[in-house]
Amino acid sequence: MQYLKSDYKEYPKTLPVDDLWGQVRRTVNGKPISPEQIQMIVDAIKSGLELNSEDIVLDLACGNGALSSYLFDDCSGLFGVDSSPYLIQVALSRFANLPSYDFKLLDAAGYVLNEPDPDRFTKVLCYGSFSFFPEKDAKAVLNVIHSRFKRVDRIFIGNLPDKDRAHFFYPKEKDYVTELDDPTAQIGIWRSENELRTLAENNGWKLRVVNMPEAFYAAHYRFDAILERV
Ligand SMILES: C[S@@+](CC[C@H](N)C(=O)[O-])C[C@H]1O[C@@H](n2cnc3c(N)ncnc32)[C@H](O)[C@@H]1O
Repeated sequence: MQYLKSDYKEYPKTLPVDDLWGQVRRTVNGKPISPEQIQMIVDAIKSGLELNSEDIVLDLACGNGALSSYLFDDCSGLFGVDSSPYLIQVALSRFANLPSYDFKLLDAAGYVLNEPDPDRFTKVLCYGSFSFFPEKDAKAVLNVIHSRFKRVDRIFIGNLPDKDRAHFFYPKEKDYVTELDDPTAQIGIWRSENELRTLAENNGWKLRVVNMPEAFYAAHYRFDAILERV
């Protein structure tokens, strides 16, 4: 059975239940990335979000919660939503007994519009996922967080594929241009820093780009973005 590389619903079920990084495709040549690489991601998120012990974090498209769990000790609560029933099931099976950390099966754009108590959140994380939101959802998510989640002053959007550096990712012979705007393609929608800046500014956010250290496995074609409320 062939699975789309953007499939996080059926494909993860084919992997061992404890292959947490495999399930969210955080792999190189099929092998999970090293603990040192994960630590680089965690450090970038904590510093980019200026995470502190008072923060309540919304983790949008949190996957199986494996990455979210690295933030538990540095905030006072975290709520993760994801549209993959299986990945949310994995998250709940590991963390359901921790009262301040919860996970729910929800689509990102629909969730932000309907969250009954948006004021409880102070920071938002969206790691490795934003490129899979269809363009209208990407806009809506930024717009609605700005208008409804009034206490959120910072969003960390991590591991964004950089359209200006797509040629570093694809093999030379591959005609990849049509993939770049397709949220269902293997990497989702590629955006240049300027395109993301425009998207952020049009929806009330000032954007700062941060690059991972060169030793990070995806540093040559991805970047992180920190959005601050204008
Ligand atoms: C590469 S995984 C990243 C998961 C997690 N943030 C991490 O970094 O480990 C991408 C995730 O985005 C989720 N996703 C894609 N589109 C979504 C949407 N519209 N709403 C919620 N989750 C979505 C997928 O189900 C998948 O779990």
